[in-house]
Amino acid sequence: MCGIVGYVGKEQATPILLDGLQKLEYRGYDSAGVCIGDGNQLQVVKAKGRLAHLAELTDGGKSLHGSVGIGHTRWATHGAPSDENSHPHAADQGKIVVVHNGIIENYQKLKEMLQANGKQFHSETDTEVVANLVEYFYDQGFDFKMSVRKAVERIEGSYALGILCRDYPGTIIAVKKDSPLIFGFGDGCNYIASDVPAILKYTRDVAYLNDGDMVIFTDHDALFFDGAGDPITKTPEHITWDTEAAEKGGYEHFMLKEIHEQPKAIRDTLSPRMKDGKIVLDDITLSADYLRNLRRVYAVACGSAYYVGVQSKYIIEKLCQVPVEPVLASEFRYSDPVLGADTLVLIISQSGETADTLAALRLAKEKGARTLAIVNVVGSSIAKLADDVIYTWAGPEIAVATTKAYSTQLAVVDLLALYMAQCLETVEPKRFDYLYGELQSLPEKVEQVLDDSVIEKIQYYASRYFNNRDVFYIGRNLDSATCLEGSLKLKEIAYLHSEAYAAGELKHGPISLIEDGTLVVAIATNRALFDKTMSNVKEVKARGAEVLGLTVPSCEEEIHKTVDSVVLIPETDTLFQPNLSIVPLQCFAYYVALMRGCDVDKPRNLAKSVTVE
Ligand code: AGP
Ligand code: GLU
Repeated sequence: MCGIVGYVGKEQATPILLDGLQKLEYRGYDSAGVCIGDGNQLQVVKAKGRLAHLAELTDGGKSLHGSVGIGHTRWATHGAPSDENSHPHAADQGKIVVVHNGIIENYQKLKEMLQANGKQFHSETDTEVVANLVEYFYDQGFDFKMSVRKAVERIEGSYALGILCRDYPGTIIAVKKDSPLIFGFGDGCNYIASDVPAILKYTRDVAYLNDGDMVIFTDHDALFFDGAGDPITKTPEHITWDTEAAEKGGYEHFMLKEIHEQPKAIRDTLSPRMKDGKIVLDDITLSADYLRNLRRVYAVACGSAYYVGVQSKYIIEKLCQVPVEPVLASEFRYSDPVLGADTLVLIISQSGETADTLAALRLAKEKGARTLAIVNVVGSSIAKLADDVIYTWAGPEIAVATTKAYSTQLAVVDLLALYMAQCLETVEPKRFDYLYGELQSLPEKVEQVLDDSVIEKIQYYASRYFNNRDVFYIGRNLDSATCLEGSLKLKEIAYLHSEAYAAGELKHGPISLIEDGTLVVAIATNRALFDKTMSNVKEVKARGAEVLGLTVPSCEEEIHKTVDSVVLIPETDTLFQPNLSIVPLQCFAYYVALMRGCDVDKPRNLAKSVTVE
């Protein structure tokens, strides 16, 4: 989710906001806007497109007068990029203006209530609900602070909010839950921002707001409150980072930052679609009737997204007994696939612009198949063309090598499979409830995998193996699908040759490549297939391989009897284990690339979105 900047002080606000938003550009966005307070006037200028366009509209910041303001760069989640959907959003009567990072999960219900109470809406966004909800309470006679407090009590979801009220000149209120927001202490001025880089030029003294915190501030005063509304004190922290480090949130690379953003990205993607024990996919129109007549699913994509498609075969077939065929988009588009009204074509793409995938989507539609896209970029070509879209709410992914987008695509596949099973009643209630709970617990289990002790182990193994010539990834069933992505990560960012093989396949040829010191990463998280995989490990060890095993606690004792080193990940249902096992492999590839002196965020020969054939 994107960028917020707020300022109140003695200077003209617009140039400071534009400068701050420009420092957040690296995070990716599709539109931008500002609201400047001049006395009791709240002036909003906003548009789809780049910040340069917003600067043009405000004559470089000179056309708007006022020393208080809020600014926003949007990464659309609800409503395609457009002038109307850009932030800031003004309430119906124009008394309240809001900028927002995050997702208001219950915005539909709130919107209906507000419309029933006469509030008009002008955008498709979830955010506009916040402006109208604050104004709704303000209209009832509550003051600015209480109106915000009451509105926030009704909101479900993630939010960083900057709010202005026409009748409170020189005052900004900010509230934070799940989406990042910091407060900047200035000299005769104060700031809010989504991230340090936006205000580093003006102050290095900041306070990180915690979930539930609210701050009401002017140019000379700032009052902080916790989620219960009790006053709290925020002690300034002094930032020593330089701007470049600050852009990466203190991480050395965007890729590492995005690996660590995965728990939040998965939570943002799952949480709005899991309500009261049911999977709720409002964004699609796959009726139970349609699903009952569904004969086949194709999962079509490129690269890492294709590997999610390979995972989807095991997961959807197991839960829904509907055949799934993963196909590379570059192959699909030039084959003559058997498609029809009884076929669902799943199109998976982070960028929503990959040429081969877009062409495959066009072919599927031409042949009369129903198409469902899993996409990270709202309003992208694939998102606009597909019959249905389920968005991954990973936020902008800057590193060329995908991590959080892959993980959220996989989470959407889990959601979709459970949704289909729910409609087809192919999973008995007790097992469904268990799977629902395990899916809900994924974000904190990913958090556990990112625990320092696991990362330290991965760094150690990377230091041992970064000079290896070849690396093999082997596993069975879902683990073999994970091997594909783990191997690709190592190839694309560390330029280290690696192969991914179904463990049972090595003896049919590739085992001839195993020699003394060859590193084999064996993923064995499925108890039912554990012994078989260990037999394959023994085969490669007999030929001199060094084996790094990746497993779950219930197999830990056993695996130590066979492999040379072990990485443990938390246990979950076999179907969701890939969401966890990929994380150590992402980290392994990252640290090997680091030790090989590679350009981790921008690997040679690669582009973030392959918009050519
Ligand atoms: C990901 O690490 C790779 N850089 C690449 O394989 C990517 O997954 C592929 O190009 C598909 O991109 P898309 O998801 O934007 O369609
Ligand atoms: N959900 C809001 C929207 O789609 C905010 C998106 C963001 O965080 O930029 O407008």
